[in-house]
Amino acid sequence: MNLDLIKQRAFENLSKRKAHKHRETGFIYYHGARVANLVINLRKLIIPEDDTMDEILQAAAYFHDVAKGIEPHHKYGAIIVREMLKDLCTEKEVEQISQLIQCHALRKKRKYNNYEMLLQDADLLDHFGTIELWMNFYYYATENQNMEFSIDFYNTEFKALAMKNRSFLNFEISEQIFDEKLEFVNSFVKRMEIENKGDIVDFSKKEVR
Ligand SMILES: [Fe+2]
Repeated sequence: MNLDLIKQRAFENLSKRKAHKHRETGFIYYHGARVANLVINLRKLIIPEDDTMDEILQAAAYFHDVAKGIEPHHKYGAIIVREMLKDLCTEKEVEQISQLIQCHALRKKRKYNNYEMLLQDADLLDHFGTIELWMNFYYYATENQNMEFSIDFYNTEFKALAMKNRSFLNFEISEQIFDEKLEFVNSFVKRMEIENKGDIVDFSKKEVR
């Protein structure tokens, strides 16, 4: 399997697509590309000795949301990818990629193997941290609403939503990564609140470079 050709095909098919109103054009492609890196970074932390599925994991990551908008997208994605990659992969590879896509959104439904769980966690983690802030701002910007709405969301709904997502993670390391992202977002939101009022953070203790 030539991963560069797989990436190229993902770019051709997904980078111009707008999956829904609150996501920018190409989100599926760029999200897939990030998840492809993230899944390998996670794999190196969780099963460092086993790189046998790295190419399959990356190919699946690039295409995991190929059917986004045609729900259930994990089910249709698993079918579409077979057609889309049949000239670039062996039958066995297509089968493995399709299987990973099939269960990427079915978290905690049954026992999954390590590779399936790695892709599930990488996908979920990409929705938090700075990416989550970006998606949140993009949402309120397309709704033509101001920063106040965003701050209000973080102060009311965000915590429960984040905790629910956290409970779907498979590995302790993923939970640690998630918690670090959450801590960053929470401190960022605190600062948004301060600056949105025209207040100034305490700068006097900051080191001058
Ligand atoms: Fe995804």
